[in-house]
Amino acid sequence: MSAILREGNEGDIGAIMEVMVRAFDPAYGEAWSAGQCLGMLSLPGVWLSFAEESGHTAGFALSRLLIDEAELLLLAVDPDARGHGVGRALIERTVAIAAGKGAHRLLLEVRDDNPALELYRGAGFGEIGRRRDYYHGADGTTRDALTLARPIDMDRPVALSTAR
Ligand SMILES: CC(C)(COP(=O)(O)OP(=O)(O)OC[C@H]1O[C@@H](n2cnc3c(N)ncnc32)[C@H](O)[C@@H]1OP(=O)(O)O)[C@@H](O)C(=O)NCCC(=O)NCCS
Repeated sequence: MSAILREGNEGDIGAIMEVMVRAFDPAYGEAWSAGQCLGMLSLPGVWLSFAEESGHTAGFALSRLLIDEAELLLLAVDPDARGHGVGRALIERTVAIAAGKGAHRLLLEVRDDNPALELYRGAGFGEIGRRRDYYHGADGTTRDALTLARPIDMDRPVALSTAR
């Protein structure tokens, strides 16, 4: 199955929230509220990539440009749509759009035990920083936050990809 990727907007907030509540581990409170998403979307330099499969929301990526760097703020794929390239396709689309906006690298922050690290490493991200005990779990444990970065080669156009 292949996903259709497109630009999203405020009108997609209901679909995004359905994926949001299903995707993120509630133990760390990583999911954003609809108000937080809408507030971010109203800011300049913020964009949403939206993935659909067979008419259903498969996932989304929320990103922003800060001067000459882009930041991937949220990436989520619905549990029913995982494991066949939607996450990777959303990252590649984010890289392509960031390149078009003139960013020279894409940054993100991730909990150090999140399986998404495999996806990010495979997509060319490397660790550039660590915040100790940044995430506080519901059970009282803490986890570090890793800051990852992927360079964007602005001399080479990046193709917008689709999931396989
Ligand atoms: C992380 C997430 C976005 C991955 O989405 P996905 O569509 O399943 O990812 P893909 O199918 O594109 O995976 C691409 C590669 O990433 C790796 N990968 C993805 N999920 C993985 C997991 N849970 N464990 C190990 N490796 C994983 C695999 O190497 C995979 O490569 P393969 O195709 O050779 O197997 C999804 O699991 C998710 O929404 N998680 C919850 C939200 C979250 O934690 N987001 C990141 C916060 S920073």
